[in-house]
Amino acid sequence: MKLDPKAIRYLTSEDFRVLSAVETGSRNHEVVPTPLIAQIAGLRGGSGVHRAISNLAKTNLIAKVKNAKYDGYRLTYGGLDYLALNAHQKQKCIYSVGNQIGVGKESDIIVVAAHDGTQRILKIHRLGRISFRTVKTNRDYLRHRSTGSWMYMSRLAAMKEYAFMKALRENDFSVPEPIAQNRHTIVMSLIDAFPLRQISKVANPAALYAELMDMIIRLARFGLIHGDFNEFNILIKEEEDPEAKGKGREGEGDEEDVNVRLTPVMIDFPQMVSIDHANAEMYFDRDVSCIKRYFQRKFHFVSDIPGPTFANARKQMIKNPGKRLDVEVEASGFSRKMARELEKYMAEVGANGDNEKGSGDEDEDEEDEEDYGSEEEEGEEEERNAAEEDVPPAQSDDVARRLGNLQVSDRQ
Ligand SMILES: Nc1ncnc2c1ncn2[C@@H]1O[C@H](COP(=O)(O)OP(=O)(O)OP(=O)(O)O)[C@@H](O)[C@H]1O
Ligand SMILES: [Mg+2]
Repeated sequence: MKLDPKAIRYLTSEDFRVLSAVETGSRNHEVVPTPLIAQIAGLRGGSGVHRAISNLAKTNLIAKVKNAKYDGYRLTYGGLDYLALNAHQKQKCIYSVGNQIGVGKESDIIVVAAHDGTQRILKIHRLGRISFRTVKTNRDYLRHRSTGSWMYMSRLAAMKEYAFMKALRENDFSVPEPIAQNRHTIVMSLIDAFPLRQISKVANPAALYAELMDMIIRLARFGLIHGDFNEFNILIKEEEDPEAKGKGREGEGDEEDVNVRLTPVMIDFPQMVSIDHANAEMYFDRDVSCIKRYFQRKFHFVSDIPGPTFANARKQMIKNPGKRLDVEVEASGFSRKMARELEKYMAEVGANGDNEKGSGDEDEDEEDEEDYGSEEEEGEEEERNAAEEDVPPAQSDDVARRLGNLQVSDRQ
């Protein structure tokens, strides 16, 4: 099912009110009954509501669901994307939507532009997506979770990522600048860099390695463990620096490239944990060993300094503490309860971040992949597995096309 971006662009204000009403109704109804939509939208009776519903369903922003007791509608990921984009547009964070540069297991990464043309990154969290891949092992769990949970969990992931990015940025960690968060999305500055994964040669691996280990230790001093610190989540900025002789990338023998300074920038924070987390040591060790293993494999570099160990890191924190950012983030509104909910969900649906990359992909079940994207539609057979009912609508392949050229109307 394709979505026509033009149709989205020309949503009437009535359509928009109805879309918002479906979202509001979804808070306590898995399937929002039509009369409730009309009531919330404040468009009592008549053809207006029905016309709007039919427009929204046609453009796949809401989907009709036949329920045992009544028929109604639910918001799709497309609808949620639209509402978030609209909010970003209203706040002047996003003017237009460009290319999608990443389709992850749990997110879509899209380049967008601000009003002055500055490019930014829109990260759309899609936490329900992975559940489908592991649907066989998670069937029981999925059966009991509510349809709205993928939306709620994706929102939690966005809130968490934004809160951490803000706290880190304010404390001079090398991270993108967080610009805005709305629903399941965040807007951040675009880092003009490639992930470490794509950097084939480094002139001085020891220096880069030391810098990355320092980052891990500094995070710990501020009460944090990244939890997914690896070659996908470290972007490497290359900057001209005559002082940086030997610190940069190894050129094809020419001097110029040697004067390039490599600056690592950390991204991807939904799985960040406090240094007081029950499994903190495991996460810490995993972050350290990811980097060690990668440097050995890719650059044939093995440090002769052992560690750092979790005990080192804790000692450093006590001796030379930074602000406790784990505590600060909690106070900023991303509560401990939310953190627990998100963590439980991520564990249950197997959202293990980029650590799963590579090996995980080969194990995927083709059948599940193809099923992903099935949507409840009017008239479709009722004989559906409950687990499949909970799967969010198709997005991954279509998202660029769907969002392409989208400029959300100024009217709302
Ligand atoms: N601010 C940014 N600037 C430039 N590129 C970015 C930015 N944020 C993300 N990217 C690019 O998108 C990729 C994925 O981003 P990120 O790690 O935040 O998402 P993810 O949730 O890990 O996705 P996945 O599900 O693939 O693991 C990064 O590896 C990077 O190439
Ligand atoms: Mg990542």
